[in-house]
Parts: sequence; C-alpha cells; structure tokens
Amino acid sequence: MAGLRDALDGALLLAPMTRGGNLPYRRLCVELGARVLMGEMTVARRLKQRRRGEYALIRRAPDEPFFGVQLAGTDADEMGWAAALAEERGADLVDINFGCPIDVFTRRGLGAALGRQPKRIRRIVEGVKRAVVRIPVTAKIRLGWNESSRNYLEQAQAAVDGGADALVVHGRTRDARYRQAADWDAIGELVAALPVPVVGNGDALFPADIEAARVRSGCAAVMAGRGALIKPWLFREAREGYWDLSAEDRLRIYRRYVDLAREHWGEDAHGLARVGEFVRWHLAFWCRYAPRRADGTWPGMQVREPMSFARSPLEALLARADHAALDWLARRLTAREEIVPTEAPAPDSAPDPQDDQAEG
Ligand SMILES: Cc1cc2nc3c(=O)[nH]c(=O)nc-3n(C[C@H](O)[C@H](O)[C@H](O)COP(=O)(O)O)c2cc1C
Repeated sequence: MAGLRDALDGALLLAPMTRGGNLPYRRLCVELGARVLMGEMTVARRLKQRRRGEYALIRRAPDEPFFGVQLAGTDADEMGWAAALAEERGADLVDINFGCPIDVFTRRGLGAALGRQPKRIRRIVEGVKRAVVRIPVTAKIRLGWNESSRNYLEQAQAAVDGGADALVVHGRTRDARYRQAADWDAIGELVAALPVPVVGNGDALFPADIEAARVRSGCAAVMAGRGALIKPWLFREAREGYWDLSAEDRLRIYRRYVDLAREHWGEDAHGLARVGEFVRWHLAFWCRYAPRRADGTWPGMQVREPMSFARSPLEALLARADHAALDWLARRLTAREEIVPTEAPAPDSAPDPQDDQAEG
C-alpha cells in the first residue's frame, strides 16, 4: 500500500476520538496543518440499523485531505458491510477499534475485549479487507487488557495475518486507562516485529514529545489524541517547531472553531445549543494548555501545570478549569461576544475532572 505509506510517512495523525473528532473540529485541525485525520468511533451495527447519528460520523469534511473512519463491531460480515459503506461514502481508510476500554462496550465484547481474542481480531480484519475495494485497513490496539496480559505482539500478528495494512498502537493497557505514561519501548518492539508500518500513540503534547517518540520507537507516524484537543495547532508545530501562542492567538483559534461549528450545526436555536455543548466540551481540554516552562522544559500530558505560568489576565482566564469559567466562556464564545477577563465570574467549583472524558 504505497499510498498509505506515503500518507503516514512522518505524519502526525489526529486520533479517533468520540466527540473530540467532530467534523468542525477536524476542519479546524486541517486549517492548522493536519493531513491525516480519524473520525469518531462508529458502531457497525448502528449503521446497519440506519441510525442517522451514526451516519453523521462517517461523513467526510469537504476540505479533509485524508479521512479515516473507525469502526467497532464483533461480527466480521457486519464489519465488512460497514467498511464497504464507509468506502463508498468517501473514506480514505478504515480503522478497526480493538482498544476501547469503556465498560458498556467491552461488556458487549467490543473494543478492548477483542484484544483478548487474537483469533477474532484476525477474522474481523479479514472480513473488512474482503469488503473494501481500494482503501487500506488498519487495526488500533492497546498493549493488552492489564499488566499481566500484555499480548500486543499476538494482537498485532493476528491483525497482520488478517491483512491489516498498518497497525496503530496506543501504548497503554486497558486497565491503565490514562493513569500511566505510554510505553514507547513496547511500541518499538512492534515496529521491529511487524512487516507493516506502525503508528505510535500516547502522550504527544509538544513537538519534542513527537520527536522523542519517533526516535525511541522508530514508528512510521505518531498519532495525537488529547494533545490535539488541548492544542489543535499541534499539527503545525509538528512541522514547524514549537509555537508560543499568545492568549489572543489562542482565542482567535477557538473563535474559528465556533465559526466552523455554527456552519456545521446551524445558527437556529437548536444548532446553537449544539454548538454551545461542543464548545463547552472543548473548553475543558483547551484550558489545559500550558506553554514551555521558563527553564526550557516541557509540561507533560499527565500532570496539570500550576497556574503561575499565566502571562496576562486573559491567559489566566483561559487556564481556569472551574465550571463557572467554562460555562461563561462557552456562552460568550458561542454567541460571538467579547471576552473581557474582568467580567468573568468567580470560581464556583473545583476544576472539572477532564480525565473522566477520556473515552478511548
Ligand atoms: C475524548 C476521547 C475520545 C476517544 N475516543 C476514541 C475512539 O472513539 N476510538 C479510539 O480508538 N480511541 C479513542 N480515544 C483514545 C485516543 O484515540 C488515543 O488512543 C488516546 O487518547 C491516547 O492518545 P493521547 O495520549 O495522545 O491522548 C479517545 C480519547 C479521548 C481523549
């Protein structure tokens, strides 16, 4: 698959993310340099049931250069049918979810539950490969169910035996969720063991993280999830180097998202309510931004920086993670109103627990 190798070569991919990978957010990422983007996890059975909400998830944005649809399911024929549908509707790639840790899915045998059954991984990948005509198929796995069952080599081999054209690895186990740092040495082991390109995933937040991950693992490409939610301009940084944005620059980017979201969901009351919900959701990630530290080191993904970095009242406001600030900012951004830091409400709560939102 020369096309896929070219697309992946040295790229930073937008990870598949429920909610986070909504169509206007992907457009924003494209404007900020993203070239390979994944949509939100789509359940094959729900497509079969003709659910409108699910069809919306496989819709490609008009200006999207390379759009991957991620499918979840347990039945090889159903997954094949859904993959053919995604291809017909313009997907450039189909990725299969073998890593989703959420109980409601794993109890039904989906996502990370399949990671425990390499034979089924193989059958599902085969079913999807048979069904698509021209687009590549990838498999996204975690390292295993827990520390005592790190079966990533078996999972990956099963996917390759089934015909996967590349492998995406989130370098944590299902039980680890987001609590530990991603294991880039394990990703490197997969790079060495597999005949197909490996996309490594976990904890990329600054260009230095991306470079370190590449050097450490030798992966063909890096994929960013939360990093791209916190900093949609990470794609530009991946090409051009660290970008120290002012709070005003950031606000312009958030306002651009509002424009794209209003275009997508509409400007009537219903559309604006939807835009408001998404803006509020994104703000809980945007507020986690912190610049390079004064001593030249980089903040990490797992630990929140002290607020003391804020260089202006606006930067301090954008770093607030309490409900009152997030609600107020969401309302004003959605309505395209001015943001005046002195008018912001006092904190009314503890910071939002963002990691509860992390679904993959
Ligand atoms: C809000 C959110 C939603 C996610 N939804 C999905 C999903 O639908 N499919 C999937 O394979 N992974 C999903 N993930 C996991 C990401 O794709 C990625 O593997 C994970 O966040 C690790 O990368 P990071 O450390 O760069 O965030 C989700 C992550 C987040 C934060």
